[in-house]
Amino acid sequence: MSLPVEKSASDELRREVLRRRTFAIISHPDAGKTTLTEKLLLYAGAVHLAGAVQARSTQRQAKSDWMELEQARGISITSTMLQFDYHGARINLLDTPGHQDFSEDTYRTLMAVDSAVMVLDGAKGIEPQTKKLFAVCRKRGIPILTFINKMDQPGRHPFDLLDEIERTLGMTAVPFNWPIGEGSGFQGVYDFQQRQVLFFQRTSHNQRRAPMTVEAFPNPKLADTLGEAYGPLQEEIGLLTGAGTSFDRDRFLAGELTPVFFGSALTNFGVGPFLDAFTTLAPPPGPRHSAQGLVQPTDETFSGFVFKIQANMDPQHRDRMAFLRICSGRFEKDMMVYHARLGRKIRMTRPHRLFGRDRETIDEAYPGDVVGLVNPGLFTIGDTLTSDPTVTFDPIPHFPPECFGLLRTQDISKHKQFQKGLKQLEEEGVMQIFYSPDHVRREPVLAAVGELQFDVVMSRLEHEYGVKTSVERMPHTMARWIVGDPAAIAAVYWPSDTVRLVDQQGRGVMLFTTEHLLAYCIKSNPSIKFLLREEVA
Ligand code: G4P
Repeated sequence: MSLPVEKSASDELRREVLRRRTFAIISHPDAGKTTLTEKLLLYAGAVHLAGAVQARSTQRQAKSDWMELEQARGISITSTMLQFDYHGARINLLDTPGHQDFSEDTYRTLMAVDSAVMVLDGAKGIEPQTKKLFAVCRKRGIPILTFINKMDQPGRHPFDLLDEIERTLGMTAVPFNWPIGEGSGFQGVYDFQQRQVLFFQRTSHNQRRAPMTVEAFPNPKLADTLGEAYGPLQEEIGLLTGAGTSFDRDRFLAGELTPVFFGSALTNFGVGPFLDAFTTLAPPPGPRHSAQGLVQPTDETFSGFVFKIQANMDPQHRDRMAFLRICSGRFEKDMMVYHARLGRKIRMTRPHRLFGRDRETIDEAYPGDVVGLVNPGLFTIGDTLTSDPTVTFDPIPHFPPECFGLLRTQDISKHKQFQKGLKQLEEEGVMQIFYSPDHVRREPVLAAVGELQFDVVMSRLEHEYGVKTSVERMPHTMARWIVGDPAAIAAVYWPSDTVRLVDQQGRGVMLFTTEHLLAYCIKSNPSIKFLLREEVA
């Protein structure tokens, strides 16, 4: 007779780690990120009708100034997290705002995921924002699955799209399925793994899962059903199967190869099989770099880092939420953790889980999960929280600002609040602030990754600090910290399209309008270094 074996805490931790999938969707605006998100929730059973999430958020729209701003711009600024279960997996989807004027938040979110889904519009292929977000994933070596969307509309040839992924992104593209029929004739996909054809049917308003039928392939019966499409399909599948571009898991995990899926998020065609494949292929949380070496998710010691701070999520409470990505161990409500930067212990009171804009208190969480902590000014981006005081995670990189503007206020009497607000917003990582070196101009220069951040700064200064401001956009697009002999720097005759400023630490920064102008200044001043912020000591 075998004795009952007591479940050890480490077994439970390992099991919980292995079933976590934490990812973000990277895409250009309009490629279908929101639609796919919603359909993934539909297929996972987290919502029963597509449209429910949006409907719910609409009911709550009156909640905050933040959301008024969202409404006014018609976009989503708030990066939130969705957590849902599917076939035993616990999936965390971290939202990356998809607007053109996206902020550094989008980039930072990619520091907290273990994989990404790249959504492409089948008619447009790779667009500028996809490329930018891909570059961040590549730098981190994040594995990427590709979903080529809108196959129900006329688009580019699938071969052409695969070729573009390989050429533009330098990733091997391995199709896991192949579309059957084009545009309005799109009926389903051929599944290379199972060697079968999946046909889908549309549902009313695409609100429910699309009924799917499965057929073997090749199959004479299908020749009748598909008519003229049968021959080319057989040819293409034969070509792809024979070409031998096989899936290599190690290369996928290293971000060198992407499995590609075709489908239509709108009509739900291919979404279910994609979710199945994602759950199987996407990796669970892996180890994370710290100053003390790799931290394994299954280490019993709790650790995590703050990757995002969102203020003003609920104006009735004027609160600020810090988002903590758990990297190792088990998180428990009310646990005491060591705050590495502050060098003291703090209690994890009021941890939250967020579903869209709803929040609920949680009691426990595991590596891969994101916990929202109501932040009474304790946290800044990159903070490490841990039960082992010796662990500090690598800092989160800053991304080079591309938008600059003069921040003006008419409210001279509110100078103190103005300065306080600017300092806090900069600490939160909302934007950077530069000043004129000799204070000839009093107005600070705002520097941000996306122009949308200017609206965020103005709105927050007004609502949180009571200071009305305006921003005058400047034509510059890049900043470089200039390092060298001060006399040599002072002697330079800078072209008129540049601006010389200092950052909060008094270090010299030059703004340039074009790459060309920057290259010219670098060439004409070989003794001076032109550095990105993270390169400055
Ligand atoms: P985003 O979050 O990436 O910005 O894109 P979103 O999902 O909002 O989709 C952008 C537009 O593309 C929406 O149309 C959406 O309905 C449409 N769309 C998404 N997936 C598909 C697809 O598979 N096929 C087709 N044909 N269209 C798709 P819209 O007209 O801007 O908005 P709506 O009024 O339809 O909501």
